[in-house]
Amino acid sequence: MMSISQYREAFQDYLDLKVQVKEPKNLYEPMHYILSLGGKRLRPVLVLMATEIFEADYKKAFDAALAIEIFHNFSLVHDDIMDDAPLRRGQETVHERWDINTGILSGDAMLINAYQLFENYEGETFKELARLFTKTAMQVCEGQQYDIDFETRDDVGIADYLKMIEYKTAVLVGASLQMGAIVANASKQSKEAVYEFGRLLGIAFQLQDDYLDAFGDPETFGKQPGGDIIENKKTFLYLKSLETSRKSEARQLEHLYTINPVETTGKIEAVKNLFENSGAAALTQLEIEKYTNKAFEILDKIDISEEKKRPLKEFGEMLMKRKV
Ligand code: IPE
Ligand code: IPE
Ligand code: MG
Ligand code: MG
Ligand code: MG
Repeated sequence: MMSISQYREAFQDYLDLKVQVKEPKNLYEPMHYILSLGGKRLRPVLVLMATEIFEADYKKAFDAALAIEIFHNFSLVHDDIMDDAPLRRGQETVHERWDINTGILSGDAMLINAYQLFENYEGETFKELARLFTKTAMQVCEGQQYDIDFETRDDVGIADYLKMIEYKTAVLVGASLQMGAIVANASKQSKEAVYEFGRLLGIAFQLQDDYLDAFGDPETFGKQPGGDIIENKKTFLYLKSLETSRKSEARQLEHLYTINPVETTGKIEAVKNLFENSGAAALTQLEIEKYTNKAFEILDKIDISEEKKRPLKEFGEMLMKRKV
């Protein structure tokens, strides 16, 4: 097997070959723009890795990997409209650089393009990939709707939050791995196990994303610092703070999440202090570890050699340490 960075490079070459700007430019340029801004390419790397783990040539999975990455980028273009986000990967978001209509339509085209790529598979493989993709894409929409609904709901609990991030983020990580297993024609049991590993890792991944949104280094993280706080996102940090704070602090936090000031620095600093002083910041780190370890327990049980498990374990450890 190759290293994570080798899979990333191989995938990047394939993407550069396949994603080209054509007419009408205003449809395809934003698509090329967002896909060229980089990003970690986590999901396509997982597709390729899983294909090799289950004994097939990773090159057979390029189209599935590209479909997943294009879908992911589509979801970011629309997510940035919904979250009113100015920055993505350290650059202007598509709707800021062009406009909202451009973001909507080029996003739609990307979603359709993702589907199209599965047409390069035959028979049972095509059917299985398409079925998994459809189910997953629908769950992502459901997760995104909950995410938006929660901004203005005041009865959100931690279980609701975990369900929401499972849908908006984790199922796509699980599906990436399962797609590799489908291309490799792995057993039903293996396909299910590798999906579950990815789902748990995906939950840890979104918890970490929420943590970094507040406490990460804006230079490396590449998104607007405190964007979730500005948008009143009911993250684990927020919900845990409410649970562990004294009454007066909890009320203060709830109040901060009802105001939408033009100058956001004061609100962000106040909220971050509450996240930290309540212990919620540290508890979020523990929760990330908990889900990563749960994922590793599933990995231990998968019927593949230790040598094949190692890159997946490395992948999980890399995610826990990430600052980007
Ligand atoms: C961002 O995903 C959206 C989330 C699900 C948190 P990534 O952090 O994988 O984004 P890129 O592709 O590396 O930019
Ligand atoms: C995004 O969650 C999940 C999807 C795009 C489906 P976030 O809204 O937290 O992602 P970022 O932080 O903007 O990347
Ligand atoms: Mg967002
Ligand atoms: Mg969002
Ligand atoms: Mg985020």
